[in-house]
Amino acid sequence: MALVTLKQLVDDAFQNGYAVGAFNVVNMEIMQGALQAAEENKSPLILAVAETHLGLLDLEQYAPILLREAERASVPVAVHLDHGQTFGNFVKALRCGFTSVMFDGSTLPFEENAAKTKEIVRMAHAVGVSVEAELGHVTGGEGDPSPGVADPTLFTDPEEAQQFVQATGIDALAVAVGSVHGVYKGKPELDIPRLARIRELAGVPLVLHGGSGLSDEDFRQAIANGIAKINVYTDLSQAAMAKIRTAQGMPENTDFGKFMLEVIATIKEAVAEKMRIFGSVGKAK
Ligand code: 13P
Repeated sequence: MALVTLKQLVDDAFQNGYAVGAFNVVNMEIMQGALQAAEENKSPLILAVAETHLGLLDLEQYAPILLREAERASVPVAVHLDHGQTFGNFVKALRCGFTSVMFDGSTLPFEENAAKTKEIVRMAHAVGVSVEAELGHVTGGEGDPSPGVADPTLFTDPEEAQQFVQATGIDALAVAVGSVHGVYKGKPELDIPRLARIRELAGVPLVLHGGSGLSDEDFRQAIANGIAKINVYTDLSQAAMAKIRTAQGMPENTDFGKFMLEVIATIKEAVAEKMRIFGSVGKAK
C-alpha cells in the first residue's frame, strides 16, 4: 500500500469511529514489531519518532529505513515526528520525507503556541505534510517509570481549542483530558464531557497522548468522543523489558539475533492488542 499522510489516516478514523495507533519506534525492533502487527491485522499505522528520543537514534540514518518500510508495507503507514519543538528537527523531518509532524508548544502561552504552530503549518502544508499540535499540556515523559497524575489546571479548554484550530489550520489536535505520559499513579480519570465539548467545537480529529496504562473502557469512551489517534510507547517498552528480564538465565551461547526475534514478536503482540482495542483492525484501505 503505501506511505500516506497523517491527515489521510485520522480523517478516516474520525469519520468512522476508530483510532489509529502511533507507536514510538525508538529502534528497529519496535518498528518491525509494529509493522508486522499492522500487516497481519490489516490496520493503518503511524510510526512516530519523538524528538526526546533523538538521543537513542540518528534521524538521518533511520528515516530512510522508516520511509522505505512504510512505502512497501501492505497497509497505509504515516511517518511522524512526535513532540517536535526544534526548528532544525522540523526541517530535517520534512527533508527526510516524513508525512507528518507534531509541533508541541503546549507549555507556551496560547498566543505564542498558536503563532508558532501556524508557522509550522505554513511550512509543512507547502510540501503536503500534515500537522498535529497540542493545546493544554499532557504531563510526564514517554517511558517515564516514576508514576504521574494529570494536572486538571492544564486541561484543554474547549473554546480555546476552537480558536486554536481556526487560527492555525492544523490537521489534528492533541488534547489534555486526564492522560499522562509514562506510568500512571492511581487510576486514570479521563474528563469525557470536556472531550465531547472539544470535539463539538474543534471539528478536527483529536489525539490522545499517554496511551499506556488506560483501560479498554477509557479507550472506548475516548474514541466515541473524537479521539482518532492514540500515542503509545511505555507499554511497548515495558513488554519488551519484561521479555528480556524473564529470559535471564538463558544458556550462555544464546544467539543475540535470534533472541531479538522473540522481542520483536512480543512487541508485535503488544501492538496488535492496542489495534484491536482501538478498532483499527481491518481498516487498512
Ligand atoms: P506513553 O509512553 O505514556 O504511552 O505515551 C506515548 C506518547 O504519548 C508519545 O507522544
